[in-house]
Amino acid sequence: MRSTEHWLVHGHTQFELLLRECRAAADILDWWALEQFVVKLIEGLRFHMAQEEEVLFPAYDAKCKPSHMSTLELYNEHSVIVENVRRLEKLIKSRSSEAVYDCIVTLETLMTEHNEKEERTFLPFASRLLFEDRDELVLKLKNFLVTNKSRNWGKEYSN
Ligand SMILES: [Fe+2]
Ligand SMILES: [Fe+2]
Repeated sequence: MRSTEHWLVHGHTQFELLLRECRAAADILDWWALEQFVVKLIEGLRFHMAQEEEVLFPAYDAKCKPSHMSTLELYNEHSVIVENVRRLEKLIKSRSSEAVYDCIVTLETLMTEHNEKEERTFLPFASRLLFEDRDELVLKLKNFLVTNKSRNWGKEYSN
């Protein structure tokens, strides 16, 4: 049973690490490095959120009961994170050093709380609920591509 229990657990640490690197770059006002870390963060998050929103959440929603945890809550948390990443981009452009630092700290809190919620409650539960569809879902997640039908991040990013 053990090998099957956590088949849905996925890596969140890369985002937490990248935000830590963003904060370190903001601390020494290394705007160039900060911009590179934000590009990486957006690239990774766009893919990760789209995988959840287009593969995992719909599969879960199709099987869950009204009394179960709702994916809407997680979706809305994604929206708040995206809003803050976009705000961070604007603040970086205007070189508002203190506001940039505060925005990164806010994002770290939002991201950590969201990831913990997924790891502690949603993913273990979804792993059990979607166990029968495991092979199909693993394949879909593996072959997943972000398209222009995916969540709108407010501007065009190359895939
Ligand atoms: Fe998520
Ligand atoms: Fe996630």
